[in-house]
Amino acid sequence: MSKGIRAWSGVAVLAALGATVAFVGRGRGDDEEEKVKLEKTLKAQPELVKIIDMIGKGAKEADIRKAADELTKKHDLEFVMGAGFKPREKGGLGVGATPGAIKPDAVELKLIDIGATKPKKTEPKITEKDIAAEKNDWIKMAQVSQTLAEIAPSYAAMDKRTPAEQKKWNRYCEDMKKGSIDLVGAINTGEPKKVQQAADKLNASCNDCHKDFRDK
Ligand code: HEC
Repeated sequence: MSKGIRAWSGVAVLAALGATVAFVGRGRGDDEEEKVKLEKTLKAQPELVKIIDMIGKGAKEADIRKAADELTKKHDLEFVMGAGFKPREKGGLGVGATPGAIKPDAVELKLIDIGATKPKKTEPKITEKDIAAEKNDWIKMAQVSQTLAEIAPSYAAMDKRTPAEQKKWNRYCEDMKKGSIDLVGAINTGEPKKVQQAADKLNASCNDCHKDFRDK
């Protein structure tokens, strides 16, 4: 290594170290990472919305597959899932047209909220009145989930998955799709117990897949 390069790389290392120390010291490293995540999630949103609309209008399976494959090329799954499911301030679509009007204002959290299996046992269960008041927005929320389930198979081969893993992946996608469609049906009955059970079943499909493919 020439003296020039060594001197240069020494400076680069010091600069990198300095930057790291400064970021960690002020917690800016996390902020920067969050900012990049937010940007990438927001960037995935319009294309996700396009496919949600296609599914809402009953588009052909082949056209949905084509749009999903296009999306896959441009956006990582993390951000597409985030765009559908995370709270609005983290780049997610949220629930309903008006930010903050429906709580929690995130599809993932709302799905947990309307299920019977809640993180805190003290949280009240949903009533017929809750369903009637937010029915259309809950249906849209289930359609967001259905759309993600239709898109996810386009990511089956990511992370160098084996054929067996891809088969498992696609089964979870099917569970999620069925769970989403069944939730729409349950919301339409207006019966809290049916909605709770359907939401729990859908949430189980998210958790099963995350356990095998996300959280390792
Ligand atoms: C077929 C598998 C699969 C299913 C089903 C699935 N997910 Fe995911 N999800 C993933 C994977 C894998 C990631 C991580 C992607 C990455 O980081 O590269 C992820 C990421 C996410 C993220 C964003 C990343 C983060 O910060 O956690 C959210 C939010 C999310 N999923 C919510 C859900 C919800 C809600 C459901 C069900 C309604 C669901 N997912 C169903 C595989 C799945």
